[in-house]
Amino acid sequence: MLKKTFSFSSSKTTCYFDASFAQIGNLVEKDRCIFITDQHVFGFHKKNFRGTRFIQIPAGESFKVQHVVNQIIDQLISFGADRSTTIIGVGGGVVTDITGYVASVYMRGLPFGFVPTTILGMVDASIGGKNGIDVGNYKNMVGVIRQPGFLFYDVSLLQTLPNEEWVNGFAEVIKHAAIKDAGLFKELEKNSINSYRKNKQLLNELIRKNVIIKSTVVQKDEFEDNERRLLNFGHTLGHAVENVYHLPHGHAISVGMKAACLISEETLNFKETARLTNLLQQYGLPINIPVDFGKVIEIMRMDKKKTRDIMNYVLLEKLGKAVIKPIPMNHLEKLLYSIARAR
Ligand SMILES: NC(=O)c1ccc[n+]([C@@H]2O[C@H](COP(=O)([O-])OP(=O)(O)OC[C@H]3O[C@@H](n4cnc5c(N)ncnc54)[C@H](O)[C@@H]3O)[C@@H](O)[C@H]2O)c1
Ligand SMILES: [Zn+2]
Repeated sequence: MLKKTFSFSSSKTTCYFDASFAQIGNLVEKDRCIFITDQHVFGFHKKNFRGTRFIQIPAGESFKVQHVVNQIIDQLISFGADRSTTIIGVGGGVVTDITGYVASVYMRGLPFGFVPTTILGMVDASIGGKNGIDVGNYKNMVGVIRQPGFLFYDVSLLQTLPNEEWVNGFAEVIKHAAIKDAGLFKELEKNSINSYRKNKQLLNELIRKNVIIKSTVVQKDEFEDNERRLLNFGHTLGHAVENVYHLPHGHAISVGMKAACLISEETLNFKETARLTNLLQQYGLPINIPVDFGKVIEIMRMDKKKTRDIMNYVLLEKLGKAVIKPIPMNHLEKLLYSIARAR
């Protein structure tokens, strides 16, 4: 087990890498913990919950909502949870988001930690302290920023993860490489989902590198004024595409990353679009979904990263180096239409 601690404005998160679930009793008293998980994770990993107090929620984004929060709170009350209780979310981003949120509001906040069980959860959702829920069609509309006390990484849990969720998670891994780490980009080019799936050491190392990339970005800018926005690479257009076409998140941001590369060619003389699109395809991600840019632009106009009529777009100077560039909305529309025409 390898340990690394990140300090944030008012708290610390300790990451345990290359860990195995059974070791969790070494960091917390199991009798004082309540685990929250979803039905899929519980179904595959029942033995890990034997003899523990746990709460199961239904699986899927549609359950990351207030009425499930209320049910969790009722169960916490019936377990007698109090400030000496640690809440541990074991699951993908849905479980960790809702767990961090409940743990932050129940009795005005209990200690909490996560055992992420998806690639996306490990490299992205569990990190950075954003915990929240959806309201109607609005994703992550209500929430808090509060850092987990610990993140516990047991990559053997990923063996039961369906292939499409590996693909989804690798979109964020590729994003991290594109914005921050040219070396990681090269490593990804030499490998595949299968090679990571088969090689535990390689996978552990990949997860660790990605956790360090995201945590370091968040450390510099916990409350998202600047550096943290780099993590939105591919997400501005991606979210809009996801919204209109109901694609899996990884697919949508794959399309978004390609568009961001093409805009980077126009505005920053970026020259490595083909390397990025090849890598996306190598990891099973689409790059050519027919998109109605009119609809997508309409959604983008409402994007929260837009200040007045300027969109702060995350672009690449080169692979491994992202920058934020303010682009007037009218100019952005022209760029997007010319990209659409060129396809
Ligand atoms: N807080 C943040 O900063 C942040 C960042 C990115 C994403 N998110 C959130 O994360 C969520 C998406 O996370 P996700 O992609 O992990 O989705 P998810 O939690 O829905 O998990 C995907 C599916 O995989 C199943 N699953 C999870 N672990 C498994 C395992 N080990 N074996 C078999 N099945 C398993 C789940 O039950 C689910 O069906 C979204 O709600 C998103 O808003 C949050
Ligand atoms: Zn994302």
